[in-house]
Amino acid sequence: MSAPGEALSVNPDVAARPVLVTGASTGIGRHLTERLAALGHPVFAGARKPTDLEALGAIPNVTALRLDVSNPQDVADAVEAVQRRGLGLRGLVNNAGLGGLGLLTSWSDEELRELFEVNALAPIRLVRAFLPQLLVARGRVVNIGSQGGTLSMRYYGPYTMTKHALEAFNTALADELAPHGIGVSIVQPGGVESAIIDSAMPGIRRRFLRAGPPFEEEAAGILAEIDAPPPAPEEQAKRAEASESAENRKPSSPEIVTVAALDALFAPAPRKRYLVGTRWEGGRVLRALIERLLDANACPTLGYTVTELVAMLEEQAQARAAIPAESARD
Ligand SMILES: NC(=O)c1ccc[n+]([C@@H]2O[C@H](COP(=O)([O-])OP(=O)(O)OC[C@H]3O[C@@H](n4cnc5c(N)ncnc54)[C@H](OP(=O)(O)O)[C@@H]3O)[C@@H](O)[C@H]2O)c1
Repeated sequence: MSAPGEALSVNPDVAARPVLVTGASTGIGRHLTERLAALGHPVFAGARKPTDLEALGAIPNVTALRLDVSNPQDVADAVEAVQRRGLGLRGLVNNAGLGGLGLLTSWSDEELRELFEVNALAPIRLVRAFLPQLLVARGRVVNIGSQGGTLSMRYYGPYTMTKHALEAFNTALADELAPHGIGVSIVQPGGVESAIIDSAMPGIRRRFLRAGPPFEEEAAGILAEIDAPPPAPEEQAKRAEASESAENRKPSSPEIVTVAALDALFAPAPRKRYLVGTRWEGGRVLRALIERLLDANACPTLGYTVTELVAMLEEQAQARAAIPAESARD
């Protein structure tokens, strides 16, 4: 681990804005950690494995912290490390997360608890623990959610349930902390290149193997797909050429999440939500939101016409455009 205070940037403004990133070993968390550190921010990077801690600690401006977000002692130790630095905490990025697919009824209670613990409960624990430090710095909380906080579909049930929970957490927290000068945002990525699928694969396989009636045949088909050899190079080239679809997904670089997180951390007026991903993914989210709107409009006491709905949309868009820049938080 690097010693606190090591190799800080000469820009005193940036050097005075420390950020803690959970789950910094791989993927999005690692990408964001490296970018923040390169910009000169002191970064507290949470990881679990000794090799990851060592690798993170070797990055200039990074203090690696052993931080299993489901372990209260690790959280308390992380608070102490941030307190020792004496700068408060400009940003808390709740990034640590578990993936996982499977038929809803094939998840064990233990698997469900672990998933909810890491993805939905730990962010509350972390905000509670770091609130005094965030208040000192008039800081920001950035939650790494998912487009799965709006969508759900077969096999994605529990994962998307945790991300829906994170959406509610984000909205309530933003309302509670805004009067105290703390901005709260959620970044909602689509598919991003990371270690998430590989890390989740043992559990995914276990659950499809475990699937009982009436799902045995369906589960066997999924397992066969998982175990199928990768497509031949010509087929891969064809898919790369073809447009994105449910069967031909095109994951994005973690860069798009980092850019959104940096805005949420440092823009004068951060947004509450940052949807990021490909146009195909974004269209899918918009259609899901429209479906919900139309479902809600079927309420017997509503029944707005499409023209009236469009007028409401225009009214709200205009109100948003009119929000003055001085609503900035700092
Ligand atoms: N990749 C995507 O397509 C995608 C899409 C939407 C949202 N997201 C979200 O983005 C976030 C980052 O995921 P990623 O895609 O970058 O996946 P990743 O590469 O697998 O990274 C997940 C990180 O979370 C850590 N983690 C897991 N359980 C933990 C625990 N109990 N305590 C502390 N850290 C823990 C992992 O640490 P270890 O290395 O120790 O396991 C790893 O550092 C997650 O919240 C995920 O839900 C990802």
